[in-house]
Amino acid sequence: MIGITDRLLLWLYRVGVGVAIFTGFGNMPLYGRYYVGNVPGFGWSSNFMVNVQVHYVAGAVLVALAVYAAIVYTGLRVRGLRLTTSGVLRVVFLVLALLSGLVMAVKNLPGVSVDFPMMPVLNFFHLFASMIFMFFSLGCVITRARWINSSSPD
Ligand code: HEM
Repeated sequence: MIGITDRLLLWLYRVGVGVAIFTGFGNMPLYGRYYVGNVPGFGWSSNFMVNVQVHYVAGAVLVALAVYAAIVYTGLRVRGLRLTTSGVLRVVFLVLALLSGLVMAVKNLPGVSVDFPMMPVLNFFHLFASMIFMFFSLGCVITRARWINSSSPD
């Protein structure tokens, strides 16, 4: 049985992932070209600078949640709680997306310059980590895969 705080954090995670994926596609940038920005209320998404700021906010929320979850899980693991294999894989792909996103954000800071040939490497790493996380998570949602091993104590 999960409490109200965990339920709220779960929704924060779902919304954070949804916004990160939506704005991630906007970073490619797709929404001006495909008229998503013409949908009432979505004009901001076709403005690259605004879209990337929203992407940062979603990313920051997810990084904060990941740090919180890692601390809580470390405590619960000692008491016997275990993630399922699909839970572990979701964590691994999310961490790769988050870490590579942080590298991308640092690369965008004024004063930081990255060798030109390195740019597509960083871009594609973040893109592929994000896409693997997205498709794998979608599969987990469709198959209703559990995060926590059912043999773990409550
Ligand atoms: C689940 C988490 C995330 C997903 C699904 C995601 C998805 C994406 C996608 C699909 C792109 C487009 C890649 C491309 O242009 O080839 C992108 C770009 C980017 N993401 Fe993320 N991302 C996530 C987390 C983060 C985080 C945590 C940060 C940093 C705070 C971040 C920073 C960036 C930056 C800076 C760009 C590129 C903007 C530019 O072109 O300069 N992302 N993201």
